[in-house]
Amino acid sequence: MKKDLRWFLKDTVRKTVDFSKTQQNLGFPPPPVQKPRPEGSVVIPLPSPDDGKTVLDVSVADALRRRQSHRKYAVTPLALEELSFLLWATQGVRGASDPVRSYRTAPSAGCRHPFETYLAVFRVETLEKGIYRYLPFEHSLLPLGCPPELEARTSRAALNQPFAGKSAVTFIWTALPERTEWRYAEASVKVIAVDAGHVCQNLYIACEAVRAGTCAIAAYDQELADALVGVDGEDEFVLYMAPVGKV
Ligand SMILES: Cc1cc2nc3c(=O)[nH]c(=O)nc-3n(C[C@H](O)[C@H](O)[C@H](O)COP(=O)(O)O)c2cc1C
Repeated sequence: MKKDLRWFLKDTVRKTVDFSKTQQNLGFPPPPVQKPRPEGSVVIPLPSPDDGKTVLDVSVADALRRRQSHRKYAVTPLALEELSFLLWATQGVRGASDPVRSYRTAPSAGCRHPFETYLAVFRVETLEKGIYRYLPFEHSLLPLGCPPELEARTSRAALNQPFAGKSAVTFIWTALPERTEWRYAEASVKVIAVDAGHVCQNLYIACEAVRAGTCAIAAYDQELADALVGVDGEDEFVLYMAPVGKV
């Protein structure tokens, strides 16, 4: 086995970066903290993530004890309030934000948050089946239409792992590396991957509070996954997926 790709896991690259020449230190404005949406697009506002009715008061200790990967889901749909909570728990905005810093429920190196969250929705009350993008700063969903055979396409995008198309909703996270590169240049690659782990762990833990389960998916077909959510595969590409359903 070749070992030369292991550089990716190390931080030796940091010693080679001239941080005085990063875009941030050269005075360039940061990329937007949320991918802009088309002018005049209609969004679906999400209910408050802490309405106190649907989200169970599970202790952190119990959530950690019960956390496990689930690959079989009940046919029961997810309530919109429950989806709202899961989106807030994974990428929701907490407190004050500005173009440089957007504090969220998950940590991120340099506060750069280089992700967008797409959803393949199959069974969520009041939502039509289809692809959506979460708008954390508006706590809303942007509908992106419904490609034919969405269940089959989602499973194929997950390298034929069928449970990805049998969920109530499958989370599909894309990376937009420029957000982190603006601050860290070539030292960005590893921290983007590390950041993604935090987001998905938040999803695992949050699922415990809505009687749902999830399973991280990092084995997927890059081109099919990028096409599913309509991203260019260069400046934005799929990095991680996680089907969610009632258990
Ligand atoms: C980075 C990462 C990638 C994973 N990719 C997959 C995957 O593609 N398919 C799958 O069925 N499970 C996947 N898993 C789930 C692991 O198989 C699972 O976490 C592991 O078996 C331990 O089980 P537990 O989560 O129930 O503790 C992944 C987990 C992680 C953290």
